[in-house]
Amino acid sequence: MWFSLETIVSRAKRRGFAYPGSDIYGWLANARDLGPYGTEIKRNIENSRRTYFVQERGDIIWLDSQILMNPKVREASGHVAGFSDPLVDCKKCKSRFRADKLIEESLLKSKDKELPKNRAGEKTPAEDLFAFLWAKKVKCPVCWASEWTEPKKFNLMFKTEQGVIEGEWMDIYLRPETAQGIFVNFKNILDTMRVRIPFGIAQVGKAFRNEITPGNFMFRVREFYQMEIEYFVENDEKVWLKAFKEWMQTSKKRWIDEIWISEKKLKFREHDKEELAFYSKGTFDVEYEFPWGRGELQGIAYRTDYDLSQHIKFSGKDLQYSDPLTGKRYVPHVIEPSRGLTRAILTAMIDAYDEEKYTDGNGVEQTRVVARFHKNIAPIKFAVIPLVKKDEKMVQMAHDIYKKLSKDHMCEFDDSGNIGKSYRRQDEIGTPYCITVDHQSLEDGTVTIRERDSMKQKRIKSEDITF
Ligand code: GAP
Repeated sequence: MWFSLETIVSRAKRRGFAYPGSDIYGWLANARDLGPYGTEIKRNIENSRRTYFVQERGDIIWLDSQILMNPKVREASGHVAGFSDPLVDCKKCKSRFRADKLIEESLLKSKDKELPKNRAGEKTPAEDLFAFLWAKKVKCPVCWASEWTEPKKFNLMFKTEQGVIEGEWMDIYLRPETAQGIFVNFKNILDTMRVRIPFGIAQVGKAFRNEITPGNFMFRVREFYQMEIEYFVENDEKVWLKAFKEWMQTSKKRWIDEIWISEKKLKFREHDKEELAFYSKGTFDVEYEFPWGRGELQGIAYRTDYDLSQHIKFSGKDLQYSDPLTGKRYVPHVIEPSRGLTRAILTAMIDAYDEEKYTDGNGVEQTRVVARFHKNIAPIKFAVIPLVKKDEKMVQMAHDIYKKLSKDHMCEFDDSGNIGKSYRRQDEIGTPYCITVDHQSLEDGTVTIRERDSMKQKRIKSEDITF
């Protein structure tokens, strides 16, 4: 069943998953702060990732590099020259759009699937986009006119200044991807860690993009988390093709096992040549069926040796790898599974949301909101509830259980005294288990445990509670 984005957004605020950024000052457009429960989901996803990739696999290590980097890094990576979108203005109403997106949307609506001509392997040049807008009389989505200004390039990087003395400030960028922090540490990793190709370096952290068309809640924002892996392989077509295919399978499986989203809503899509980023020879996107249509969750790109070679050129440092067995020296090639963590949190929230009709104990039909998070990513694992809030012994016993469980799990203690309300609140948060301490508990040490999805309750000994 589909629920509107507005439903998800208002539940996210009401229940402490995500708040509008700078809320008391009337919001900073499109900024979102994670609330306590959103933060827990983020932590659970990161932990699951660390356990699987870094702890269990053994061929991936991780690091945490700086957001601000030497500006030469961005020149070498191509972001200063190439990380831009072509913008056009409607001559009549002055609204501004991304030319490529306008065309994409107009092609989706029309039967005419002929794309503007492009040079093989390159992004469609701005002049071709401009010609296409005019030739096909693409309409402005705001005023329906079809007169366009020439496309202007707009760099998506946020620029700031470093330094304290006027005149000695240096222009510097907030990183638009976490990847470059990995490439510039490649030599440090080779020199300090016992790694053998193939191996990967992972990083989770913030990235910043001055997006022209942010929106759809936390889908496209200007400040967001990425989870990236750069996986270094030999320069051999058979080797990288095999690694690329393996990463497609692994990525799909991880969306299901790590974020626990419905497999039927996931889709793999290969990029058209004109859609490829400037550094990539091949990219697959993992997409999800959002309430507003399909959207990208992750890209898996074959980045060749582009980044390391560029850093060799710009830094003058030797970033080649020496194979200890064959003695061969070469610049490794890279497969990059790059996933948005902010988008993963949003997707988990959308995928889990449900409204369910049920008949209560009095035979009355009710509707409950329930977040069906897998228990591994649910923000709260157990809610411990004393049935009568004025009964000191009951409250004490519930508190003791809470203290014991919370050594290993995120738990909530809820002594509001209204069991129905407590269950509804925990269902909305997505808490898999509610433990209730009642009169019988004081006599025989048992409690009731209620399972979120089935709403079934059973009585067990308090020491037998397991996750
Ligand atoms: N290093 C490669 C890279 O950054 P990308 O496709 O531009 O590739 C990777 O970004 C992922 O980061 C995307 O699949 C998406 O999940 C996430 N992402 C990109 N821009 C975003 C934005 N403005 N807001 C939220 N997430 C974003």
